[in-house]
Amino acid sequence: MNVGIVGCGAIIGQYLATFDELDVVRLVAVADLDPARAEAVAEGREGVRALTVPELLAAHDVDLVLNLTVPAAHADVALQAIAAGKAVYGEKPLATTVDQARAVLAAAEDASVTVGCAPDTVLGTGIQTARKAIDDGLIGSPISATATMTTPGHERWHPNPDFYYVPGGGPLLDMGPYYVTALVTLLGPVSSVIGAASRTRGSRVIGSGPRQGERIPVSTDTHVTGILTHASGVLSTLVMTFDAVDTQASKLEVHGEIGSLIVPDPNRFAGDVKLRTLGSPAWEVLPVSAGYLDAGRGFGVADLAATPAGQEPRAGGSLALHVLEVMQSVLTSAGSGRAEPIQSTVDRPAAVPLTPLTRVSV
Ligand SMILES: NC(=O)c1ccc[n+]([C@@H]2O[C@H](COP(=O)([O-])OP(=O)(O)OC[C@H]3O[C@@H](n4cnc5c(N)ncnc54)[C@H](O)[C@@H]3O)[C@@H](O)[C@H]2O)c1
Repeated sequence: MNVGIVGCGAIIGQYLATFDELDVVRLVAVADLDPARAEAVAEGREGVRALTVPELLAAHDVDLVLNLTVPAAHADVALQAIAAGKAVYGEKPLATTVDQARAVLAAAEDASVTVGCAPDTVLGTGIQTARKAIDDGLIGSPISATATMTTPGHERWHPNPDFYYVPGGGPLLDMGPYYVTALVTLLGPVSSVIGAASRTRGSRVIGSGPRQGERIPVSTDTHVTGILTHASGVLSTLVMTFDAVDTQASKLEVHGEIGSLIVPDPNRFAGDVKLRTLGSPAWEVLPVSAGYLDAGRGFGVADLAATPAGQEPRAGGSLALHVLEVMQSVLTSAGSGRAEPIQSTVDRPAAVPLTPLTRVSV
């Protein structure tokens, strides 16, 4: 599959590293609002052209547009790519509102093109081994889960952190996609949510890069908590915050009738899955048993390329829409004080058997 990337910022390097390893994906063009950024990426990369965004969208050799722009531009760039007849795979979130995300999926359906969306970390061995443990009954019937993401704030390391602190950013929409996508992968779709949120500071100070020391405004909540009721009846508790120094809590835990599982960081592709069953003396690390081995950002694009036409890829648009609706509804509930029902639902994507890198092919 020939890929053109729109958006050449901080995250592109991880995709480039993955595409260097994968035969199924060939990068042919890059574009950015800032032409110098696109030129810097194309320079020295054989077969990769730096184009303007309209040129890239019109390019006949681009099959899929990889949308690595900032969240506020995700829906607009996706709709333009779909209008040009291209498949789209975007960084998370799919859009900043559920209505925009629905519009993207509707346009894609009309145009018969496929939509994929990050995160693809859940296709790695960490979450997939945990999923297999649950599906194999190692913890019995699941009862509850906890998801905890703490950081004092991305402005400490990101040179242009403005997008994290406007609506569409914040800890839930930024990091929640990893955690909520993992919870849906492990425990199935969500049917209703309750949320509460707070904002402690009206501004943040950039900690690195040319704008170091600049104060940027905060117009979104920076500490978000939520309770998700899955359709199965399992209850997941979320804590997503840009307002905590550190934690020793597991990023994800799942508790069942006969066992508890510590699930590795859903923002990474691999990590130890730990199990403790009733009566066992200690936690045991489970052997790696499922998922794409040695994966990195971009495996979702390869998975999409290997998915037969007309079928939903694992990191697909319907899953991304459901996850976005869950997150937006937590924020709506935080404002209203009421539980919010979730309209969308989604099947759990097919499990990933243990697959070495070289086997991800059409
Ligand atoms: N930085 C990370 O570590 C990281 C990790 C995972 C996911 N992401 C996600 O990746 C996406 C991009 O993040 P980033 O950190 O690379 O941001 P960034 O600000 O560093 O880069 C975004 C790039 O997109 C370009 N751009 C913005 N709007 C555009 C448009 N309409 N058309 C063409 N180009 C446009 C900008 O000029 C910029 O070069 C976000 O959705 C973010 O959530 C980032």
